[in-house]
Amino acid sequence: MKKKNIAIFASGSGTNAEEIMKHFQKSAVGEVSLVLSNNASAYVLERARKYQVDTMLFNRQVLNETTAVDEKLEEKNIDFIVLAGFMLLFPERLIKKYPNKIVNIHPALLPKYGGKGMYGMYVHEAVVKNRESESGITIHWVNEIYDEGKIIFQATCPVGPKDTPEDVATKVHQLEYEHYPKVIESLLKEK
Ligand code: GAR
Repeated sequence: MKKKNIAIFASGSGTNAEEIMKHFQKSAVGEVSLVLSNNASAYVLERARKYQVDTMLFNRQVLNETTAVDEKLEEKNIDFIVLAGFMLLFPERLIKKYPNKIVNIHPALLPKYGGKGMYGMYVHEAVVKNRESESGITIHWVNEIYDEGKIIFQATCPVGPKDTPEDVATKVHQLEYEHYPKVIESLLKEK
């Protein structure tokens, strides 16, 4: 079977993107063919170069009001889209073009701590402030509403009374690295 082409959208450091690129270097079902970012200084672009993966940089206006991103995805024959720390709302136009082919990872146990403004460290700060005893990750399909697509997978980690938001971030990142590449691989196998 032909390998599926994966595109990763990321806005920041890209540690998840790197784990996914690393995983799919050795996979028979898919490969990362493109990394896209809305942030010129995002370290994820550097990571993509290290793995010799093609990159595309765009801004909000290009994403929402032109078809430049669509054309790049088509040129690369993208079959599956992974959001990994992508901080812009994913446009409805692309969601319609790639039905059930776009996944996101959220650094908490949705439906808790989701929605607009809940991303990255803001999530972990809220979890600690509310004295939660656990947090975790949620991998879900992307639909038109922030963090409300169907949940595919969740994993939890304990939050201790002395944990700082940084401690929680570390635990959540470990879960992300452990599970996100494998969950993507199993979804590709089902397609
Ligand atoms: C990850 O923890 C991811 O779950 C989160 O941003 C971080 C990106 O880290 N995503 C969101 O908050 C989306 N709402 P990374 O750039 O090192 O992969």
